[in-house]
Amino acid sequence: VPSSNIRNFCIIAHIDHGKSTLADKLLQMTGTVESREMKAQFLDNMDLERERGITIKLQAARMRFMYNNEAYCLNLIDTPGHVDFSYEVSRSLAACEGALLVVDASQGVEAQTLANVYLALENDLEIIPVLNKIDLPGAEPERVSREIEEVVGLDCSNAIYCSAKEGIGINEILSAIVQKIPPPQDTAERPLRALIFDSYYDAYRGVIVYFRVIDGTIRKGDRIMFMASKKDYYADEVGVLSPNQLQVDQLYAGEVGYLSASIRSVADARVGDTITHYSRKAEESLSGYKEATPMVFCGLFPVDADQFNELRDALEKLQLNDAALKVHIPFQEEFLSQKPQVPWDLALDVGFLVFFIWKFQERLEREYNLSLITTAPSVVYRVNCVNGDTVECSNPSLLPEPGSRRSIEEPFVKIEMLTPKDYIGALMELAQDRRGEFKEIKFITEIRASIIYELPLAEMVGDFFDQLKSRSKGYASMEYSFIGLPSLIVIWARNLNCFLIDTNLEYCTKGSELTLGAFVFSKLCIHIVSGDGRACIGSKVIASEAISAIRKDVLAKCYGGDITRKKKLLRKQAEGKKRMKAIGRVDVPQEAFMAVLKLE
Ligand code: GTP
Repeated sequence: VPSSNIRNFCIIAHIDHGKSTLADKLLQMTGTVESREMKAQFLDNMDLERERGITIKLQAARMRFMYNNEAYCLNLIDTPGHVDFSYEVSRSLAACEGALLVVDASQGVEAQTLANVYLALENDLEIIPVLNKIDLPGAEPERVSREIEEVVGLDCSNAIYCSAKEGIGINEILSAIVQKIPPPQDTAERPLRALIFDSYYDAYRGVIVYFRVIDGTIRKGDRIMFMASKKDYYADEVGVLSPNQLQVDQLYAGEVGYLSASIRSVADARVGDTITHYSRKAEESLSGYKEATPMVFCGLFPVDADQFNELRDALEKLQLNDAALKVHIPFQEEFLSQKPQVPWDLALDVGFLVFFIWKFQERLEREYNLSLITTAPSVVYRVNCVNGDTVECSNPSLLPEPGSRRSIEEPFVKIEMLTPKDYIGALMELAQDRRGEFKEIKFITEIRASIIYELPLAEMVGDFFDQLKSRSKGYASMEYSFIGLPSLIVIWARNLNCFLIDTNLEYCTKGSELTLGAFVFSKLCIHIVSGDGRACIGSKVIASEAISAIRKDVLAKCYGGDITRKKKLLRKQAEGKKRMKAIGRVDVPQEAFMAVLKLE
C-alpha cells in the first residue's frame, strides 16, 4: 500500500464510553477478525483487564478498508484508559495522524478525555468527534456535541452519531478516517526513525517492540539501535499486527508494526525511544522521550515468608516486562540484619518496594500464584541534611538521624476535577481535607465546572480517586500532573528513627495535626501480625471485631460511585475471589488494610 493510502489513528475515550466495543466493531466491519473470534474483545484481551474493565495494555491492529474502489490500510493504535498512563498515551498519539474522540452521548466530556484531547492537539492530530451509544434512551447527542464544541473548541457539525453496540455509524467512521485524517508523509528514503509506542516481554523471543516507522525503512535482519538506551540488536523478526503478529520483510515510513530482536529487558527499548539503524543513524531522535521516574512506592510482602524467593523471581520477570515497574531490593539485607530489633515474631520479615500501580499486585497474585500484602502507597520525600546532602526517602528506615536533617520536601501534584455543579462543594471539601490548596474554578458549561487544586502527591495516592467518584456519585473525573517538590512542607515532629515501626510514629504536616500516613499504616500491619488480633493506629485500638465492620464498609464505599465498576466487583466477589489474608491468627482481607486509610 502506498503511504498515501495509509491512515494511522487512535481512539480517545473515557473509561466505559465504548472504546473497546467500537474497536471491535471496526475490526469486524473491515473483516479483520471473524465475528466468532470476537468473543473476547480483541484490544483488551488480558484476563485482568477484562475483569477490571479497564484497558491497560496498548496494542495495535491493521485493517483493510475499501473506499471508492481503492484499498486503504487503517492502523488503529490503542491507548490506555487509566489516568496513570499519560506518558504512554502521548507516545501512542505521537504515532498517529488522527484520532477518534469517542464520547458517550448519554454522559458528556470527562476530565481524562479532555486531557487526552489536549495531548492529541499538541501532537497536531486531526480529531473526529464520535457520539457513541445513541441507541440509549437517555442519549442526547446534540447536547453533548455542543458541550464538546464549548469545552474543547472542536467543530462538531460533522460529528458522527454512532452506536458501537448496535453497529450504527461504523461505516461513516471508517470513511471519515480515510477522508479527514491525513496520510503519513513519504519519507522512506531518510535514515530510519521509528517511534516505540509499546513493548512487552515474551519468554521465548525476548522483548517485542511495537513501533510506528516515522522515517526510513526497516528490514528483517537489520542491525538496529535504540537511541535513548544506546543498545543495539539485530532485528530477528519484523511484522505487522493484523491484529495477530504476521511477519513481513520490511516496513516503510508511515507503517505500524512490531519487531523482536532477542532483547532482554523492556528497559532497553522503552516507550518513546527512537529506533534507528546502527550503521546509518538518524541525526536526531524523535522528540518527547521521557525517562521513567517512579514517584509513588509501596511495600510488598508475601503473606507466607517462604514465598520470598518466588516473589523476587516474579518481580524480576515483571520488571523485564514493564519499564514502569522499578523494584528496589536493597531492603532485603537491612530487613534481615535488623530483624532482632523487632520485638515480635514477624510473619512479614522480608519485603520489596515497588513502583506502585495497583495492577501489579493483581498480576502477581494471578500470574504467579502468590498471596501478597501491599502497604499503602507512599511517595518519595527529599530530605535536605545539615551537611548539604540530599537523601531520597520513601521509608522511615531510610530517614537520616534527626539531628542531621534540615528540612524535608514532599512532591506535589496539580489536579483538575471536572464535575457537575451539584458536587462542587463535596469535591472542594475533599481537596481541602487532603491539604489541597485551591487554585481556580471555572464553569465550562452552565452545569459543569472545572476545579483546580494543588496538593501533596501523598494525599492523592490513597483513596482520593475513589472518594472523588463516590462523593460525586460517579459523575466527576480528574487529571493530575506533577509540579515538583516545594520545600519545607513536611515536618516530622518526633523521632522517626525507626525500623518500619516506631511506637512514637507520627507524621505531621504544616498547619494541621496528625495525618494518617503510610508509615502509620505499616505500623498497623505489624500490630495485626502481632497475633493478638488487635489492630492499632498509634494508641488507638481497632479491635479485631472491627475488622469485619471495616470490610463491609469497604464493599459499600471503596469502589463507590461507578455503577458498572461496582457490578464488576460484585460479580468478582460472587465468584468467591475474596482475597483473605491469613496473618498470624487473624484473617484480614486486603481491603481492610486499604480501608484503614479511609478512616476519618
Ligand atoms: P474501558 O475498557 O474500561 O476503557 O472501557 P471502554 O471505553 O473500552 O468501554 P467498553 O467498550 O468496554 O464499553 C463500556 C460499556 O458500554 C459496555 O458495557 C458496553 O457494552 C457498553 N457500550 C459500548 N458501546 C455502546 C453503545 O453504542 N450502546 C450501548 N447501549 N452500550 C454501549
